Amino acid sequence: MPAIVLIGAQWGDEGKGKATDLLGGQVQWVVRYQGGNNAGHTVVLPDGQDYALKLIPSGILTPGVRNVIGNGVVVDPGALIDELGGLQERGVDTSGLLLSADAHLIMPYHTAIDRVSERYLGKAKIGTTGRGIGPAYQDKIARVGVRAADLLDAKILRQKVEAALEYKNQVLVKVYNRRALDLDEVLDTVQAAGRRIEHLIADTRLLLNQALDAGETVLLEGSQGTLLDVDHGTYPFVTSSNPTAGGAAVGAGIGPMRIDRVIGILKAYTTRVGSGPFPTELHDAMGEHLRKVGGEVGVNTRRPRRCGWFDAVIGRYATRVNGITDYFLTKLDVLSGLEKVPVCVAYEVDGRRCDEMPMTQTDVHHAVPVYEEFPGWWEDISRCQTFDELPANARSYVLRLEEMIGAKVSAIGVGPGRDQTIERP
Ligand code: IMP
Repeated sequence: MPAIVLIGAQWGDEGKGKATDLLGGQVQWVVRYQGGNNAGHTVVLPDGQDYALKLIPSGILTPGVRNVIGNGVVVDPGALIDELGGLQERGVDTSGLLLSADAHLIMPYHTAIDRVSERYLGKAKIGTTGRGIGPAYQDKIARVGVRAADLLDAKILRQKVEAALEYKNQVLVKVYNRRALDLDEVLDTVQAAGRRIEHLIADTRLLLNQALDAGETVLLEGSQGTLLDVDHGTYPFVTSSNPTAGGAAVGAGIGPMRIDRVIGILKAYTTRVGSGPFPTELHDAMGEHLRKVGGEVGVNTRRPRRCGWFDAVIGRYATRVNGITDYFLTKLDVLSGLEKVPVCVAYEVDGRRCDEMPMTQTDVHHAVPVYEEFPGWWEDISRCQTFDELPANARSYVLRLEEMIGAKVSAIGVGPGRDQTIERP
C-alpha cells in the first residue's frame, strides 16, 4: 500500500484535521511533514467532543495509528508537552507518537525574534502566528539550528545554543532593543522540556520506509496550505516551509515515487489569516456572514479569518502544483441559504483576463475577480448522506467546481461531525 498526501489547496484552515481523521481508519501511520504549532486542526468525534490539534498529527485520535512528527517540522518542546498533556488529560492514548531526530527545535529566541520582528515590519508585517516558526526555519537553512537529536547530547546542545545565542542576543539587543537571553536559563528550559520528550525521538524516516516496504499505508498530513507555501504561495505573505505535495517526501524522508494519491482539501469558499493578497475577499456583510456561519476564527490564535468567495483560479493552481488526484470539498453547508453563490472563474489584471495564477506578485495584487453566479439552495444539507440527497443546485455547484479545478471531488463535508461527510467513490 502507498503513501497518501493530504494538502490544503487554499490558504490553510480548509478542514484538513477532519479529512485526516476520516482516513485514519484506513491508514497505519499519520505523519506531519512541515510547519509547527502555527497549525490548528479541529477534529470533532462522533461523541461530539472536539479536539484542537496543533503539532500532533490528527491520527492520534484513532486508536492503533502510529503518529510521526517528521524531520520537516519545527517543534517547540514546551508546546509539544502542553499538547500531549491536554490529550492525555482527556484520556487519549498518545503512546503511538514519534518525533524525528532531525526535526528542528523552536528555541526561546526564535519566538522572541518572531514577535519583535513583526512589530518592526509595521505595515509590511506578515501577520505570523508569533510562534517562532520563521526564525526556526531561518536557522535550519543557515545551518545553525538545534535538532531533536541534540537533546540527547548535553555537550553538543550547549555548544549549539551558545553559538546561536551569541548572534541572536546581538540581534535582540542591538537591532530590536530587547533584553538579551541568558544561556543557562535557555538551556535549563530546553533541557527540562527535552527530558519529557526524549523518549519520543526516533529515526522516523527508517521506520516509515520499513512500514511502506511492509505494505502499510502512510498518510502525510500537510498543514497550512498551497498558497502559504514558501515557494508556490503568495510570497512573501507565506509560511516558511513547503506544505505543497513535494514537501511531503522531503519532510518525511520517503521517496516521491512512494506517493500515489494526493488529496487536496478545499473549502467551498475561501478564507485566509494574516496579511497578503486575497482577490475574492469580501469586506461587506456577506464576508461577516461567512465568518459567522462558518465559525471562521483561528483554532490556534483565535484571530478572525478573512472570508471570500470560492476562487477557481486558486483551485486550478493547487491541482497543478500539487498533482492533486482528488479533492475533499469542505463546509458546503455554510453556503446553504444564499440566493446566489458567486464563484471567481478568472481574474482581470490591468484590463487583461487571466485564467491562471498571474506570474508576478504585482499582478496578483492587482487581480480583480471575474465572477460567475450560481443559483443557491435553501435546504439544510447537514444530514445528507449521499450526493444524490443534496439539492440539485448544490450538486451543480460541486460539479461545476470539479470542471473548473480539473480534479474530482471524492468527498464533501456538510457539517463539522465525523459522520457529516458525503463520500463519492
Ligand atoms: P507563520 O507560519 O507563523 O510564520 O505565519 C506566516 C503566515 O502563515 C501568516 O499569514 C499566518 O497567518 C499563516 N499561517 C500559519 N499557520 C497557519 C494555519 O494553520 N492556517 C492558516 N494560516 C496560517
